[in-house]
Amino acid sequence: MKTCLVLYHSRGGNTLTTAEAIAQAARDHHYEATVKSIIEIQKADIDAADVLFIGTWVQGFILFGVKPADANLWVQSLPSLANKPTGIFCTYAFNPRGSLNKLASMLQEKGAAIVGRQAFNRNRLTEGSEAFVQRVLQAQTEITA
Ligand SMILES: Cc1cc2nc3c(=O)[nH]c(=O)nc-3n(C[C@H](O)[C@H](O)[C@H](O)COP(=O)(O)O)c2cc1C
Repeated sequence: MKTCLVLYHSRGGNTLTTAEAIAQAARDHHYEATVKSIIEIQKADIDAADVLFIGTWVQGFILFGVKPADANLWVQSLPSLANKPTGIFCTYAFNPRGSLNKLASMLQEKGAAIVGRQAFNRNRLTEGSEAFVQRVLQAQTEITA
């Protein structure tokens, strides 16, 4: 059975809700899926995964626009992402703006192969999660075929 690891950074629980929906959608595709906070992640978890999903909430700053929250701290502390096919996501209230682009570049520097991205409005935290997961798993299958 293929393995899917869903990593999330959540302050109030919204991003965890989306992460759990993503894991459930992966299970529906017969993947073994685990949800973990970005602070508890170990190199062995990454190495064991066939596909990764990594998501965060977004935070706005008056002078600096909207960013993936705290990513300058937590992305650095991740182990190498070892060229794993990775779907990235965020949850937001108004407009995520360039958050996913910023997160993509930071995770690419950590070695992720970004194969999909999706922003989820906090009033619809699971809407579109099945289609997002399907796209990422399809890309993962094509890469490893
Ligand atoms: C301090 C703070 C700043 C935020 N800034 C933005 C913002 O600039 N744009 C936006 O769309 N949402 C913004 N949000 C909303 C959060 O990104 C959104 O509620 C998210 O779903 C929270 O996820 P969490 O419950 O996993 O922490 C902000 C929330 C907080 C607490």
